[in-house]
Amino acid sequence: MKILVYSSKNFEIPYIEEANRKKHQLTFTKEVLSSKTAIKAIGYDAVSIFSADEACFITIEKLKEFGVKYITLRSAGYDNVNLRAALRSDIRVANVPEYSPNTIAEHAVALLLALNRKLIESNDRINRYNFNLDHLIGFDLNKKTVGIIGTGRIGTVMSKIMHGFGCKLLGYDIEHNAELVKNYGMTYASLNDLCAESDIISLHVPLNTETHELINKDLIDKMKDGMILINTARGSIINTKAVIEGLKNGKISALGIDVYENEKGIFFKDHSRDIPKDNNLMILNAMPNVLITGHHAFLTDEALTNIAETTIINLDSWASGKESENELTEIN
Ligand code: NAI
Repeated sequence: MKILVYSSKNFEIPYIEEANRKKHQLTFTKEVLSSKTAIKAIGYDAVSIFSADEACFITIEKLKEFGVKYITLRSAGYDNVNLRAALRSDIRVANVPEYSPNTIAEHAVALLLALNRKLIESNDRINRYNFNLDHLIGFDLNKKTVGIIGTGRIGTVMSKIMHGFGCKLLGYDIEHNAELVKNYGMTYASLNDLCAESDIISLHVPLNTETHELINKDLIDKMKDGMILINTARGSIINTKAVIEGLKNGKISALGIDVYENEKGIFFKDHSRDIPKDNNLMILNAMPNVLITGHHAFLTDEALTNIAETTIINLDSWASGKESENELTEIN
């Protein structure tokens, strides 16, 4: 098959080429898929996309018109694809549902530890030979309550790691994970109770109509004073403005995010010479108790290997006329 790999980054190309073993004809482009760039897919059977690509209704219509039959996502989240439009257009879509939940959960833990123990500020001071320890006090994670919102693949690993730290676990999910309850002492709670009782909250739900701005002003008001919020899921699961207010009034003592609601068009590129005119990002960047990484929670050798291999497996299935085991057929 001929595949156009949108948003391809230098670091991932060797992984994809290695997994492909010259089976499919791959063309790599740094361009992001949009209604404007869909035209580049003329003559290709499939496109491979990542989280910054936008397969909206119009883009899907265009891909269909240009003869594209398959979309394979190099991500687990697929909130950037209008699945309904794709299925109506007979464009088949598959993702990489489980490339390494550990990769993302470990990044969430890294954000949490760095914030709690003020590692960035400490290192900034050391770089200036300032060995003063004032205002660097953190707290033990042991015996603290961690609220896990979304106890699927990543939330489960996160729960197990936090259990290892000696934390008490509260969970919120539409489906309960019996293993976490039985072996890790997880208690499922309502969103309100989880927020009221958690010292730390980590988000691991997909972005969908129900989770859009799930963390809003009402819920933040119910949270414990001085809690820490970690978001490695999707930016729009939190209402950034409300979270900034929470940071300002001390409700939230620290925020760690790998995702940002307006990240499209900003993340994955060097903007050091054309600083994005995004007020909320500027405010967050200016706060010492906010740690932002640019959607790089997935960036491990294991995850990149699995993403590449599953992407090629998806393409292999379609090339041999079969349904991919990762095909997305349910609209939520
Ligand atoms: P998963 O599908 O295994 O787990 C998601 C959980 O959320 C499920 O247990 C599901 O029941 C629950 N859920 C869905 N809708 C809900 C709702 N309305 N209310 C309460 N619970 C709900 O997904 P996984 O693999 O754990 O990934 C979670 C999300 O993490 C992905 O959807 C993706 O957006 C994000 N992600 C971010 C990455 C990054 O690089 N920062 C990389 C990979 C995933």
